[in-house]
Amino acid sequence: MSKRYKVAVIKGDGVGPEVIEEAKKVLDAAAYSFRFTIDYYDYLMGGVAVDRVGVPLPDETLCGCLDADAILFGAVGGGKWDSLEHNFRPEHGLLKLRKSLDVFANLRPIFVYNELADASTLKTEVISGVDIMVVRELTGGIYFGEPRAKEEDKAYNTMIYSREEIHRIAKIAFETALKRKKKVCSVDKANVLEVSRFWREEVIRVAQEYPDVALTHMYVDNAAMQLIKNPKQFDVILTGNLFGDILSDEASMLCGSIGLLPSASIGHKVSLYEPIHGSAPDIAKQGIVNPIAAIASASMMLRYSLQQEEAANAIDKAINKVLKDGYRTRDIASFGAKSLCTTDDMGTLIANIVSRHEKE
Ligand code: IPM
Ligand code: MN
Repeated sequence: MSKRYKVAVIKGDGVGPEVIEEAKKVLDAAAYSFRFTIDYYDYLMGGVAVDRVGVPLPDETLCGCLDADAILFGAVGGGKWDSLEHNFRPEHGLLKLRKSLDVFANLRPIFVYNELADASTLKTEVISGVDIMVVRELTGGIYFGEPRAKEEDKAYNTMIYSREEIHRIAKIAFETALKRKKKVCSVDKANVLEVSRFWREEVIRVAQEYPDVALTHMYVDNAAMQLIKNPKQFDVILTGNLFGDILSDEASMLCGSIGLLPSASIGHKVSLYEPIHGSAPDIAKQGIVNPIAAIASASMMLRYSLQQEEAANAIDKAINKVLKDGYRTRDIASFGAKSLCTTDDMGTLIANIVSRHEKE
């Protein structure tokens, strides 16, 4: 009997529905070639949910997600909902979803496709061969810390990390490094913040369990600079929620377009897979968004949640192949494009290669 998986799908806002459409197309091709079945269950979330049912994360969505084998997520948010009170903003729905699922580890691989080595604004020799895994803590830190408030004459948030929170994310970083180049760079602001000094102490403690992994520490301001100056020095970057958010957007530019990079958010229950880009309402519904980040997120889903490693490899290879053949969406059009293609074309091209791939 072939395997059957339940995938919860959240298309969300802006370009979300378009990129998810392509990711599903490629997943279906992989399911066909590698003989498994995916049943998709669509759930509302984000601005569309606010518009239809009044809240960004309906209970039904959360229950559906908890009941699935994995969650495929597009993007949420947009100017239309920006003036809403905090708890009603689409972004709040995403934060609540991450927290409720306890997906504390956000893995953001930053790598440069060979064919796009000159797509970056940085020099080719600086970025070619870059291969970094950002391990960002996702359910704690200043995003969730209490107390928080916006008052008449002041506003505040709290950056807080417990030993347990640091411990579990550090373990993920060291385990990840063991499968890579065995280097962890922990990024903090320990010269100023108590929370960072505590973070550093706990990371050092966890490192003792991993004598084969080299641990270094870097202040976040320096890390921001080093990422541009010499990104190849990094293997695994371990950091907190806010620093990880900022550094991963910065690092995404090493590879030329934020439209290329996937992410996985992992915990002990179901995991969430999403492109690292946002909802980009300004380019929605024009067929110009790059679906590769979402397709690569689907590939991470096959690898980490559904144990379909071969199918994931086939997708990654297919992405490489179309880029090698010179197909480009608009965001990367000036870099070696032989044919400019739409969002839909890009998904179809990748899906076609995957569906020709025969299981041995
Ligand atoms: C991301 C996004 C989110 C974050 C927003 C939309 C809440 O920027 O996934 O990086 O800050 O975590
Ligand atoms: Mn972000």
